[in-house]
Amino acid sequence: MPAIVIVGAQWGDEGKGKIVDIFTEHADMVVRFGGGPNAGHTLVVGDDKLIVRLIPSGVLRPMTTCVLAQGMVIDPKSLVTELDELEHRGLRTAGRLVVSDRAHSILPYHVLVDGLREQGKGAIGTTKRGVGPCYEDKVARRGISLGALRDRTRLDALVGRALESWAPTIRELGGSVPTVSEILDAIEPARARIVGMLVNSQALIERAVRDNKCVVFEGAQGTLLDVDHGTYPFVTSSSPTAGGACVGSGVGPTRINEVVGLVKAYTTRVGGGPFPTELLDETGERIRKVGDEFGSVTGRPRRTGWIDLPGLRYAASVNGLDALAITKVDVLTGLSEIKACVAYDTPRGRTTDLPIDELDRAVPVYKTFRGWKKELGSARTMDDLPIEAREYLQFIQSEVGCPAVLVSVGSRREETIILRDPFSKRA
Ligand code: IMP
Repeated sequence: MPAIVIVGAQWGDEGKGKIVDIFTEHADMVVRFGGGPNAGHTLVVGDDKLIVRLIPSGVLRPMTTCVLAQGMVIDPKSLVTELDELEHRGLRTAGRLVVSDRAHSILPYHVLVDGLREQGKGAIGTTKRGVGPCYEDKVARRGISLGALRDRTRLDALVGRALESWAPTIRELGGSVPTVSEILDAIEPARARIVGMLVNSQALIERAVRDNKCVVFEGAQGTLLDVDHGTYPFVTSSSPTAGGACVGSGVGPTRINEVVGLVKAYTTRVGGGPFPTELLDETGERIRKVGDEFGSVTGRPRRTGWIDLPGLRYAASVNGLDALAITKVDVLTGLSEIKACVAYDTPRGRTTDLPIDELDRAVPVYKTFRGWKKELGSARTMDDLPIEAREYLQFIQSEVGCPAVLVSVGSRREETIILRDPFSKRA
């Protein structure tokens, strides 16, 4: 039974909620390995829409163990709110949701600093959930792991030390510095519940993999938001790429059997940063409306644009993609023509690579495809799709050099063309 990593191949929001839910139908375990409440994965259950931020999308499958691994940054209050929302909808998580005691805590001063910075000149359009400042603390070796929540006296000292180091920044940004007891009181109701869920997740995951269980590693965000490989500095503060699954969960790279890249049939981006294929016209507006392209965490309208094939080839290379899952093809229905960026003109000439450090100066070179009018929601095989949609999807696969494992034609579970059992490759 394989271990599969699923990652976003663009700037996030590729439709991970639905796809991870499908992949986890036969999974024993699903692991989130990075990021935090900045992610927002939308799940559609019947007529109901549910958004998970910290909890893996595999939570819909009652037999699947959900793991929040140590590469994550976790806001105790948000986690408890999310758990309550799930319970309220009848989704029980007790006993099957565990959290690494080495994951780092997002505390109110992280959220405060993130918000204050976003009001200033250095704003990059973060989700203001405290993710960046929390990872800063982790790398500066003054972070507070969730394990520290077990001991209130020790926590008191750690928060005091952290506040001392953040105080000058908070003041400089015009904020007022909270006290240690304000911080501790704010998280106290969540503390006891979280402490009961803490485990050594690395050992748990290792055992599952060794016992030949099906394990899905659920990426958040996307390749181009990776702190090392993305469009720096307009990136998140973690590693949403396939290598990040190993670093963030402690699973060894040789244990991974397959890496699947999620690709939306067009491109979106939330927040600032270069986006050469962006559509600032009515086609972009139409894609935003039909695709419901509004941030699931912040509600911000997402920027929309044509698919970027040099960008996808780059994602295939950085992640070592074995397969693609192509989503939201139905959103393009009704457009008279569809464009795909195949190369870039840059000050140094034309290139079919992604000129990642010159994206603000790169001019996309497009190939134009005929659009289609037929609704796609009922398609269950590639032959059910109009020839124009097939041509477009075929072109994406051959240009990226990766076959598709599935094509999603609507938000419901059943609105999916399954091309291969995702667990079949090297099972
Ligand atoms: P942060 O992760 O909140 O620090 O935000 C940094 C950048 O990553 C901003 O441009 C965000 O809009 C973007 N970002 C973070 N999480 C997501 C996500 O789940 N989907 C899409 N963009 C995201």
